[in-house]
Amino acid sequence: MNRIALPDGSTVPALGQGTWKMGERGADRAAEARSLRLGLDLGLTLIDTAEMYADGGAEEVVATAVAGRRQEAFLVSKAYPQNASAARLPRACEASLKRLNTDFLDLYLLHWRGSVPLDETVEAMEKLVAQGKIRRWGVSNLDVEDLEELGEGLSSCATDQVLYNLEARGVEFDLLPYAARLKMPVMAYSPVGQGGALLRHATLKRIAARHGVSPAQIALAWTLRGPGVISIPKASSEAHLRENADVWKIVLTPEDLAELDSAFPPPKRKQSLAML
Ligand SMILES: NC(=O)c1ccc[n+]([C@@H]2O[C@H](COP(=O)([O-])OP(=O)(O)OC[C@H]3O[C@@H](n4cnc5c(N)ncnc54)[C@H](OP(=O)(O)O)[C@@H]3O)[C@@H](O)[C@H]2O)c1
Repeated sequence: MNRIALPDGSTVPALGQGTWKMGERGADRAAEARSLRLGLDLGLTLIDTAEMYADGGAEEVVATAVAGRRQEAFLVSKAYPQNASAARLPRACEASLKRLNTDFLDLYLLHWRGSVPLDETVEAMEKLVAQGKIRRWGVSNLDVEDLEELGEGLSSCATDQVLYNLEARGVEFDLLPYAARLKMPVMAYSPVGQGGALLRHATLKRIAARHGVSPAQIALAWTLRGPGVISIPKASSEAHLRENADVWKIVLTPEDLAELDSAFPPPKRKQSLAML
């Protein structure tokens, strides 16, 4: 599996696992933890979660999944914007650590921008780094002008996690080139369009048939086609997980890419950052 360098020189697998919608039903939790564990077996060791998901329930599922295997995993969690202040971020982080049953996060993100000034959040994040509670920090759903506001903080921002898939290509116009100049990877969320209409698109189905793979695998391989993108599909089913972990065998041809560009045109001008 390809690995992607973070600004601090460490590397992470380019393909990780999402957890949104996990932990919502008690009856599903054991199976969800098993699927995350299978993902670990398959090399999908970066696991993305958030205090928001199932009100902390997804973090608890992740804790079950990584029990006894913490050192294999690269755990990412996210704080609500209202918790991103100097006073509240340490408490939110501590609560996430407790639910994850760990004493540090590999990466802690501001989930989206709220009313807390960004420089206050950066300072609070840096304090958590200094205390060893988090290894590094980053942001999510921040557009280029928000990132610019980070000022000097930008140099220690590990990633910006944004919506990126064939149906949502706006970030290609400015955010992806901007991040590339900073050597900061972008984390693509909802890379298979939440398993919806994207996977039934005729062009995607045609290209998938040509390669003998599934439309989701083409959608995923497409997000991973260039450098500097980490993709974090969520898959609870074993079949989906195995498909996703296998996308490395797919080499999209110039013809495939041209067909995808024609069906899902790249942006010609600035678009405001799309988010879910
Ligand atoms: N920062 C943010 O604001 C933000 C927003 C959204 C998401 N995220 C993160 O990004 C992760 C991924 O995004 P997402 O969950 O919104 O959407 P996604 O990963 O694009 O789609 C997940 C859906 O696609 C299905 N799926 C996965 N692999 C598949 C395959 N190979 N074939 C067919 N269907 C497949 C899953 O089904 P099964 O589960 O049944 O296998 C699930 O229903 C989230 O889980 C979360 O961790 C972050």
